[in-house]
Amino acid sequence: MARRAAIIGTGSFFPPKVVTNNDLTKVVETSDEWIRSRSGIEERHVTDYATATSDLATEAGKKALAASGVDPLSVELIVVGTTSPDTLFPSVGAILQDRLGLKKAVAFDVSAACSGFNYALTIASAFIENGTYNNVLVVGADTLTKYVDWTDRSTCVLFGDAAGAVVLTAKEDGSGVLSNYLYTDGAGGKDLVMPGGGSRDPEMRNGRFIKMNGKEVFKFAVRALEASVVEVVKKAGLELSQISCLIPHQANIRIIDHVIKKLGFPAEKVFVNLQKYGNTSAASIPLALDEAVKAGKIKKGDIVVLAGFGAGLTAGANVIKW
Ligand code: ACO
Repeated sequence: MARRAAIIGTGSFFPPKVVTNNDLTKVVETSDEWIRSRSGIEERHVTDYATATSDLATEAGKKALAASGVDPLSVELIVVGTTSPDTLFPSVGAILQDRLGLKKAVAFDVSAACSGFNYALTIASAFIENGTYNNVLVVGADTLTKYVDWTDRSTCVLFGDAAGAVVLTAKEDGSGVLSNYLYTDGAGGKDLVMPGGGSRDPEMRNGRFIKMNGKEVFKFAVRALEASVVEVVKKAGLELSQISCLIPHQANIRIIDHVIKKLGFPAEKVFVNLQKYGNTSAASIPLALDEAVKAGKIKKGDIVVLAGFGAGLTAGANVIKW
């Protein structure tokens, strides 16, 4: 049988501080009703100033490694999807290599915003399939609440902080990543931008906050999520009816509802936890996957689809046989 990347451990972590919709009504002119009805979000977890993305990623990574049972010294690669690294360099991956004692692993970050985990998983699975590595840690982690303008009600209500991780190992028993699909639309990049902090504006003269054209991102998200699911399932040689569990990026319940309606996909097979966490960017899919696994929603032999979209603009999806 083909050599594939199988998920043998999952883990996740979010900061303890909860900010409810009602808390936000004290910060901006909004209401619990508006946020719930337009996004589905009820609360989110927010980091304090001293906590950085690698701190959340370290905890998620520890849990995934413990669940997998792999020897830390047998992990050969770490790929982290993040757009809120602690520093421009070193990478969050390099920080994790040191903190988690994965002394033999090479490590790097992938920048694809909310699709970051799908991109990281795609890269990691290719390295396993081609025989380069046997054991890989893949992480999605972001702290975008540090980059939202807390006076801009159209963005600050949407985001939360978290990290999620999986351990992949090479298997030849039919399980593992069956197909990947990635998509980028650079022309749409202007609709979701963090202008400050990069080499274009290191002094952040243009501001240090996320700028989003919500309506355009919404339209892209609906189109891209539907296309990603259709394409990745086709690439796996499967039909939609064979999918046991769909885990979409947890940005907005209206995006998810639109897409599953268009696909004719049953809502009971879609895992949603965005009401508790908001949009945690690259962490959203591995956090939801970890919860779904722990809740017993994913069993051996199940076909799971992970599908994300985000700034770039980017989209990506993976089909996994559990
Ligand atoms: N509370 C109350 N009113 C609000 C709020 C708020 N928090 N935010 C906006 N409004 C107001 C607007 O000002 C507007 O008022 P106006 O008509 O008087 O101008 C009205 O509500 C409607 O605003 P819209 O932007 O049309 O609201 P919409 O229904 O489009 O919902 C939303 C906005 C939730 C942002 C939606 O467009 C969306 O989800 N877009 C996609 C966002 C997304 O998924 N982004 C993440 C991508 S992932 C990544 O890579 C980071």
